[in-house]
Amino acid sequence: MASVEVARGDITAQRVDAIVNAANESLLGGGGVDGAIHRAAGPELLSECRLLGGCETGDAKATSGYRLPARWVIHTVGPVWGGGGRGERGLLDSCHRRSLDVARELGARSVAFPAISCGVYGYPAALAAPLAVAAARAHGHDLELVRFVLFGDETYAAFAAAASG
Ligand code: APR
Repeated sequence: MASVEVARGDITAQRVDAIVNAANESLLGGGGVDGAIHRAAGPELLSECRLLGGCETGDAKATSGYRLPARWVIHTVGPVWGGGGRGERGLLDSCHRRSLDVARELGARSVAFPAISCGVYGYPAALAAPLAVAAARAHGHDLELVRFVLFGDETYAAFAAAASG
């Protein structure tokens, strides 16, 4: 069973086997953590992403990490928050479960997640955090470490509270 940690910081600096990217369905980059990961990884990341043919919301696909400390990037696409009545919970759970399945398939032992969907996609961190932590505990088997790496006080507080439960 993986240990689940919560930390403040920049996910691109994480020295783990795989970092998870909060991408969009094109997988062709964007702002937020997606932009930060592409900037840190370098242009080869986009070149490899172009070969993946996109990614459905709730699914996850892996690439190399290139110039990142992490060996792999697992790109997942979170749901856009629409108030909670459009299957957002199930899709966000699927993002975490699929990302952890892909990590296991790669042979990764340590994985770092950002707060998927909690930025541009508008998912309230107070609702996302308990779901994300529960998914890490439920699906983190065969991994040693799952770390949530958060920007901002509110997001960090939500995940720290969820992880202490
Ligand atoms: N390290 C860790 N967390 C970060 C970093 C970083 N370097 N940069 C941003 N974040 C945080 C944000 O503060 C937010 O809490 O990641 C969380 C997710 O926010 P977004 O990056 O906006 O991701 P999301 O809400 O899932 O929206 C995805 O945004 O960038 C585009 O291409 C992306 O269209 C997609 C959409």
